[in-house]
Amino acid sequence: MALHMVNKAGEQDHSSVPRHIAIILDGNGRWAKKRGLPRTAGHAVGSETFRKIATYCRDIGVEYLTVYAFSTENWKRPEDEVKAIMQLLKRYLQEAIDTMERDHIRMKILGNTEGLSTEIRELIRKTDEISSHYQGFQANICLNYGGRDEILQAAKKYAAALQAGEADAELTEEQLGSYLYAHGIPDPDLLIRPGGEQRISNFLLWQCAYSEFYFTDVLWPDFGKAELDKAIEEFNRRDRRFGGVKK
Ligand code: FPP
Repeated sequence: MALHMVNKAGEQDHSSVPRHIAIILDGNGRWAKKRGLPRTAGHAVGSETFRKIATYCRDIGVEYLTVYAFSTENWKRPEDEVKAIMQLLKRYLQEAIDTMERDHIRMKILGNTEGLSTEIRELIRKTDEISSHYQGFQANICLNYGGRDEILQAAKKYAAALQAGEADAELTEEQLGSYLYAHGIPDPDLLIRPGGEQRISNFLLWQCAYSEFYFTDVLWPDFGKAELDKAIEEFNRRDRRFGGVKK
C-alpha cells in the first residue's frame, strides 16, 4: 500500500502510517566533515532535522516518534562534542517547554537521567510535568540511553520490589516490561537508521523484537519528508507475522 494514497475526495490518505517510528540519528559528523565544518555543526543541523521530522510525523498521524540522541557509550566522545550535544539538548528542551502548549507535542526523555547534569534533569522534570496530561503525538528522546542498561535497571528494580514484597515471584515479560524506561509506550513498528550503518547499536533492544528495520545511506541532517515517506512505503510492503504464519 502506498503512503500517499488519494481518497475519493481527492485528499491525501495517511491511514497506513506506522503507529510508532524509532530513529537512530546517525551521520551528523560525516555530514559536517564533508562540508569542512566541525562535527558539532552537524549535530546542530541534526537537531533541526529532528524538529522538522517530528512535526511531519505528527501531521501524518504517527502517534509515537522515538529518537536515539545520546547513548550510554557516547560519553567516550571528545569532551567538547559531548558538551555541544548537551547544549543542543538543553536548548531543545527549553524551547519545547515554551511551545508545547501550542504544538500539542507530548514529550518524554528515556534513559538513565541520574548521569545527566542537574540543569538537564530539571528541564526533564518540567517537560514531564507539563506534557504528561497531553493526548496525541508523543516524541521520545533517548538520552544517556542504552538498551542493555534499560534491561539491567529494570531487573534491579524488580529485584528490589521483590525483596520489599511488592512484586510477584513469578516474573513475566509484562512485569519486567513495567520497569523499563519505555513502559507504557507501544513497541516501535518501524526502526529507521540513516547514515549507512546497518546495526542496532544498543537501541531499544527489548522493544524492537518485531520491529521492521529500514536502512538508508542518507545522512541524518539530509533526512527529509521524502525519505520518511520512502521508509513508510517500504514498511507497508513488509509482511509482519510476529513469529506466526501467513493466513
Ligand atoms: C550520531 O551522529 C549523532 C549523535 C550521537 C548525536 C545526536 C544528537 C543531536 C542531533 C543533537 C540534539 C538532538 C535532539 C533530538 C534535540 P554521529 O556523530 O555518530 O555521526 P557520524 O557517524 O557521521 O560521525
